[in-house]
Amino acid sequence: MSQTLKAVRGTRDLLPPETELWNRIEATARRVFARYHFGEIRTPIFEDTGLFARSVGEETDIVSKEMYTWEDRARLARAELRNAWLKENRNKISQLLTDDDDTLCDLAFEKADGGIRLINFVENATLSEYQRLDVAIKRYRSVHAVPPDRDVIGTVVIPKENARSARNPPAEMGGGYVDTDSTVERNFYFDRQSLTLRPENTAGVVRAYIEHKLGESGQLQKLYYIGPQFRRERPQKGRYRQFWQIGAEVIGPPSAGSESPLRDAEVLEMLATLLDELHIEGWTLELNSVGSSADRERYNDVLRTALVEVAPKMCADCQRRAVTNPLRVLDCKVPEDQPIIDSLPKITDSLDQESKDHFAAVTAALDAAGVAYKLNPRLVRGLDYYTRTTFEFTHGGLGAQNALLGGGRYDGLSEAIGGPKAPGIGFAMGLDRLVLTLQSAEANQDSGADAAAKLEAYIAPLGENLNAAALVLARELRRAGLSIELGDGSFRLKKSFEAADKVARRIVILGEDELQSGILTVKDFATGTQSKVPRAELVNFLNQ
Ligand code: HAM
Repeated sequence: MSQTLKAVRGTRDLLPPETELWNRIEATARRVFARYHFGEIRTPIFEDTGLFARSVGEETDIVSKEMYTWEDRARLARAELRNAWLKENRNKISQLLTDDDDTLCDLAFEKADGGIRLINFVENATLSEYQRLDVAIKRYRSVHAVPPDRDVIGTVVIPKENARSARNPPAEMGGGYVDTDSTVERNFYFDRQSLTLRPENTAGVVRAYIEHKLGESGQLQKLYYIGPQFRRERPQKGRYRQFWQIGAEVIGPPSAGSESPLRDAEVLEMLATLLDELHIEGWTLELNSVGSSADRERYNDVLRTALVEVAPKMCADCQRRAVTNPLRVLDCKVPEDQPIIDSLPKITDSLDQESKDHFAAVTAALDAAGVAYKLNPRLVRGLDYYTRTTFEFTHGGLGAQNALLGGGRYDGLSEAIGGPKAPGIGFAMGLDRLVLTLQSAEANQDSGADAAAKLEAYIAPLGENLNAAALVLARELRRAGLSIELGDGSFRLKKSFEAADKVARRIVILGEDELQSGILTVKDFATGTQSKVPRAELVNFLNQ
C-alpha cells in the first residue's frame, strides 16, 4: 500500500484565498519600495556554503545548526571542469596568495595535463614563496572545505631542489606529491561544491553586488527582494523551515553616502511607512548599536572576561560561546540564563565616540521624522555581519516568535567575502508573520473581504453541445477585463446556480435560444433580479 505523501515538516502549501492576502502584501511592499527608489533583485535560492559561513558566521545558530547543506553531485566533464577551474580559481588563488605578499600576484597559469601549472612560480619560486603557496592552498582547502578525496584538478610543479627542502617539515607540506626526475608535483583538488539553501538573502545580495561590480557605478544600490528562505528550526506558530522574506538592502561605496546615518533613518522611516500602509498596528521598533568591528572586538573581550565566572552556570551553548564568540551568548533563549545575561556588561558602554555619534545621528533623524523607537542594548541580532545600527520590529500579537522583521548595518560584509569596501544597511521581514498578524486583525474586524473577492460572472452552458460556445463567450468577456468562471454543460441548471452563487456575483445562462437570438439571461444573486441582455451590451452590463 502506498503511503500518503505530505508536505515536509516545517513547510506548507499556501492556498487561495489566503494567497490573495500574500499578493496584497507583496504588491504594497513593491509600491512602497518604488517610491523610495528601490529596484528588485532576484538571487539564486542556493549558494556556495562558504558564502554563509563567511558572512552570517560559523558560530551563529543559523550556520552551525540550521542550514540545509549538501554536496553537489553534478560533475562536469573533465575538460569543462578544468576550464571552469582555471577561470574561477585564477583570481581566488592569486588573491589568497596576495593576502600575504603582493609580489606573488603575477603568477601565470598554463594548462597542463590533468591540471594547470603555475609557470612563473615554478621558475622563480624561493623556498619561502613555496611555503606561502602551500599555506595558501591549505587555506583554500579549509575555506572551501575540500575533503581529501576530491578530484585532482590542478598541479603545481615545483623544482625538485626547492621541493626537497620544502618537504621538511612534512606536516607543513602535506601529501599529494608526485615525484619526477626534476620536479615534484603538488596536486590541487577541485572542490565539488558544498551548496546550501539560502537561510537569508543579505549574503546573496552582497555576493551579487560584488560579482556584478555594482559599486563601480559610484551610486548607492537600493535593492529589494521577495522570496523563500530555509532554516532547519523547530517549527511552531510563526516559525517554519521554508519561510518567506521581503527584504531590502542599501549598499554602495562610502563616497555614495552608504555610511551615512541618514541611510539608517531612511530605511527605518520606510519600514514605519510600509507597516502603516499594510495596516499593521501596535508594532514596536527596538533599536541598538553594536558598534564598529573594533568596538565589537573590545566588547567581546569584556564579555569573555565577565563570562569566566558565570558561564559554568549557563546552558551548554552559552558555555561554548563564552569562549568562541561571547557576543552570541546574548542570543540565548534559555529562560534560566536570562537573569545572568541581563547582568552582563552592555555593548553600549564599549562603543567608541564615532559609533556613538553615528547612533546619535540615527536617533535624532528618527525623532525629527516622528518614528518612535525603544532602545534595547541586548539587541545584537543572531548574525555576525552586523556593525553599528541593529533593529527589530516586534508585534505583541505574534506570541513567542514576535519579530516581524529585523535588520541592521553591515559595513564590513562586502570585504569579508572578498569584495570592495561597501558599507550597507538592510532588513528582512517575515512574510509569514505579517500574514499571521493581518489575519488576526482581519478576524477581529470581520471584514467584508469575501464579497469583494467574488467574480463578475459565472457562465452556465445548458448542455454539453454549448460548451465550446460558452468558452468563446468567456474568452470575449475575460479579454474585456472581466473575471469569469466557466461552468460545464453537463451540469443541471440547479447545480450551475449553486456553483455560481459560491464564487460569482451573477450567472449568465447560455442555452440554444440565447445563442441563436444573441440575448443572454443574467441573474444577479445579491438583488435576485433577472435581466435579458443583448450580447453586444454584456460587457457594459457586467461592468456596472
Ligand atoms: P533575521 O532576523 O534572521 O534577519 O530574519 C528576518 C525576519 O525573517 C525575522 O524577523 C522573521 O520575521 C523572519 N524569519 C526568520 N526566521 C524565520 C522562520 N524560521 N520562520 C518564519 N519567519 C522567519 C535576516 O534574515 C537578515 N538577512 C536581515 C537583514 C537584511 N539584515 C540586513 N539586511
